[in-house]
Amino acid sequence: MELKDALSQRRSIRKFKETPIPREDIEGIIEAAIKAPSGKNLQPWHFIVISGKKKQELVELITQTAKKLQDKGIPTGSCLNSARAMGECPCLIFIYHTQGSYNKPPKGTDRYLWSVNIQSIGAAIQNMLLEATSRGIGSLWICDVFFADKEITEWLGRKDELVAAVALGYPGEAPGRAPRKNQEKVTEWIGEEEDCCN
Ligand SMILES: Cc1cc2nc3c(=O)[nH]c(=O)nc-3n(C[C@H](O)[C@H](O)[C@H](O)COP(=O)(O)O)c2cc1C
Repeated sequence: MELKDALSQRRSIRKFKETPIPREDIEGIIEAAIKAPSGKNLQPWHFIVISGKKKQELVELITQTAKKLQDKGIPTGSCLNSARAMGECPCLIFIYHTQGSYNKPPKGTDRYLWSVNIQSIGAAIQNMLLEATSRGIGSLWICDVFFADKEITEWLGRKDELVAAVALGYPGEAPGRAPRKNQEKVTEWIGEEEDCCN
């Protein structure tokens, strides 16, 4: 598939078929992630592929954590919906920021490196979604995991920082294109146009 087709055909998929994904596709998707550029080429990412009973245990942990927050009157947005999608997809990938730590939140100029690393990981995740689309695999980028980030991180036995999860599976729905602000609205041009393009 051409890049322009992957870009326009990609959708956030929230309903998945049970059909498992071939391992070579999952490896291909992670391979695409690690081709992303990263600040100082630090490659500050770590991927955890989880499926089957272990995935269900983790989804249950996320669901129960969100419900506890709700019982305390804390809104959890789309977390339970995302947890349902995570339960449905055959393969879930957690992405960690290897230089991040909950015990040492970034302060001062460390915040810049933190931001650089998170941008690098964002690029890697976008590569994953595009590669999945090109292989006919649906995906969902999930930050609702933040509602249970400490719980997930402890369950996985990690010391670094959770950035997101990506759900993967064959699409069980075909959503239309979510609206976008048009280019004129989100772009401004400064300087002589003929100096940059013709
Ligand atoms: C950083 C990020 C976090 C997201 N987190 C969630 C999430 O937790 N749950 C969810 O259902 N969708 C999540 N999404 C998907 C967005 O809702 C979706 O990209 C947006 O509505 C546009 O739709 P599209 O992806 O089909 O173009 C996330 C997307 C991004 C980029």
